[in-house]
Amino acid sequence: MKQLTGRDLLGTADLSTAEIMGILKLARQLKSHELELKCNKVLGLLFYKASTRTRVSFSVAMYQLGGQVIDLNPSVTQVGRGEPIKDTARVLDRYLDILAIRTFAQADLETFANYAQIPVINALTDLEHPCQILADLMTVEECFGSLEGKTLTYLGDGNNMAHSLLLGGALTGLNVRIAAPKGYEPDPEIVKQAQAIAEGKSEIVVTQDAIAAVENAQVVYTDVWASMGQEELADQRIPVFQPYQVNSQLLSHADTNAIILHCLPAHRGEEITAEAIESDRSRVWDQAENRMHAQQALMASLLGLV
Ligand code: CP
Ligand code: NVA
Repeated sequence: MKQLTGRDLLGTADLSTAEIMGILKLARQLKSHELELKCNKVLGLLFYKASTRTRVSFSVAMYQLGGQVIDLNPSVTQVGRGEPIKDTARVLDRYLDILAIRTFAQADLETFANYAQIPVINALTDLEHPCQILADLMTVEECFGSLEGKTLTYLGDGNNMAHSLLLGGALTGLNVRIAAPKGYEPDPEIVKQAQAIAEGKSEIVVTQDAIAAVENAQVVYTDVWASMGQEELADQRIPVFQPYQVNSQLLSHADTNAIILHCLPAHRGEEITAEAIESDRSRVWDQAENRMHAQQALMASLLGLV
């Protein structure tokens, strides 16, 4: 994995198939304690949006490696008062070993990465959530033994999660079906990119038909209908997205062994029913745990520990 040393992870397709599979293998070894890695590195967390899982899983993963974490909350650092990103990035570069950023515009993340030499990780932008996808793929692999030929159906908003699932699935041979209402489809450029990557290996489909999309799927995945920054649109979206709710009726069309995933936080009664998320099919807590193992493997790779 030495080829990952010093690199950034700004989007899922920054990684090759072999690199994703290598990170997943390392994550499994770290989770099972077959391997223990140590370092004396400092991770910075610069989050412009709320976070429970990403913040805590990155922190614990770094503490377990023996490193330190600094929370660079923008509301108490100068970047939140208008210090240019390019200045902040060059300064943080001199202090930190690795930096995870959660922000709105992908372009801001890219500016950080352009001005900081240290590895910069996308901890969620409006465009993508690649760290989540590493944990999702790890969870699917744990449940089914492999990714190739399995079908993951994502229902709801064609958002950052949909984009990263499209690319992550395409890179690993997982069929990805996105069922989204008209006007809420994923970015057509990302769909095209995923289809080009997947060509001859897996199937990438975007449809408005939720039932057809779930037919025989092994993984049924959903996310909030209004992402962070879109809170004021939440109410008007509810009736539009209702046919895409993950509930027992929709799940009856999936494979008999189908699992349910959700990146969380979940809104019970909106994108998923309480019954579905609490059911035997739900793997959301394993999925959330795997954030920690997958990101420990990712950081170890970018820091050149393996
Ligand atoms: N899934 C996820 O990224 O959760 P947080 O927003 O809590 O980090
Ligand atoms: N699409 C959601 C994902 C949260 C982890 C958001 O961006 O708010």
